[in-house]
Amino acid sequence: MGRVADKIAIITGGASGLGLASARRLAEEGASVVIADINKEQGEAAAGEIPGVCFEQHDVTREENWIRLVDKVVAEYGRLDILLNSAGIVRLASIEDTTEETWRQINAVGTDGTFFGCKHALRVMKLNGSGSIINMCSTASIQGGPMIFAYAASKSAIRGMTKSVAVLSVQSGYGVRCNSVHPGNMRTPMLEGVRDIVRESDPQAAQAMDGIWVGEPEDVANMVLFLASDESSAVNGAAMVIDNTTTITEGAVPR
Ligand SMILES: NC(=O)c1ccc[n+]([C@@H]2O[C@H](COP(=O)([O-])OP(=O)(O)OC[C@H]3O[C@@H](n4cnc5c(N)ncnc54)[C@H](O)[C@@H]3O)[C@@H](O)[C@H]2O)c1
Repeated sequence: MGRVADKIAIITGGASGLGLASARRLAEEGASVVIADINKEQGEAAAGEIPGVCFEQHDVTREENWIRLVDKVVAEYGRLDILLNSAGIVRLASIEDTTEETWRQINAVGTDGTFFGCKHALRVMKLNGSGSIINMCSTASIQGGPMIFAYAASKSAIRGMTKSVAVLSVQSGYGVRCNSVHPGNMRTPMLEGVRDIVRESDPQAAQAMDGIWVGEPEDVANMVLFLASDESSAVNGAAMVIDNTTTITEGAVPR
């Protein structure tokens, strides 16, 4: 019997990186997983390769898309047990260089996408009196960073949203849990993209970055699995950090 046997999950951003690793892990443990991602090619490829996983093309930034997606999943599977909001984008810019466009893009995917996801998952989960919503935050919401201004702001908003959803659910007797996951640097295409930009613009910073601890997507997927499963039934409104002490040490943890 798998740790999330027969549960129905939606994973946004599931076509790549942390979302993809989480889709694989939940499916291995018996869940039916819907990867909901804007990238059709990668999403279909992932679904074709992992048993128990299917793909829905989905742009998290619009509420109407969420209504359609959540209602479709409930119509097809009868319920929704797990939502992992993992879709995200990052742009490197200080507050001084953050344009209105960059601010809106990052917040549209991260902040708006997570808001709509939580809202519509809660709408259907509370009818069953159970469910687990997991929001992908970051250590950026704990530490900030000079060059990730909008990203850190968005992740901080998601951290706050998570706690508000959890408390509402407890006080209203909805039976839905909501937790955030805060990874440090994890080996994914997003991190590789950031590394490439830093290598070009600031070789010294890139060298420092190369010396910092990097985790594997599976490290995050295992946390997601725990939060998705009934093993974490007393964990609600929590911020789970996966960074091998990076946020509690001064700067870099050597590899
Ligand atoms: N990799 C890290 O080091 C790291 C660290 C902390 C937090 N995170 C967070 O984890 C999450 C996943 O990051 P990752 O490293 O796996 O990145 P990734 O780039 O590998 O994957 C992100 C996925 O989100 C999808 N996506 C982007 N915009 C979308 C939209 N509008 N609608 C639907 N899907 C959309 C992309 O197509 C992609 O499949 C993000 O929220 C990121 O901020 C990553």
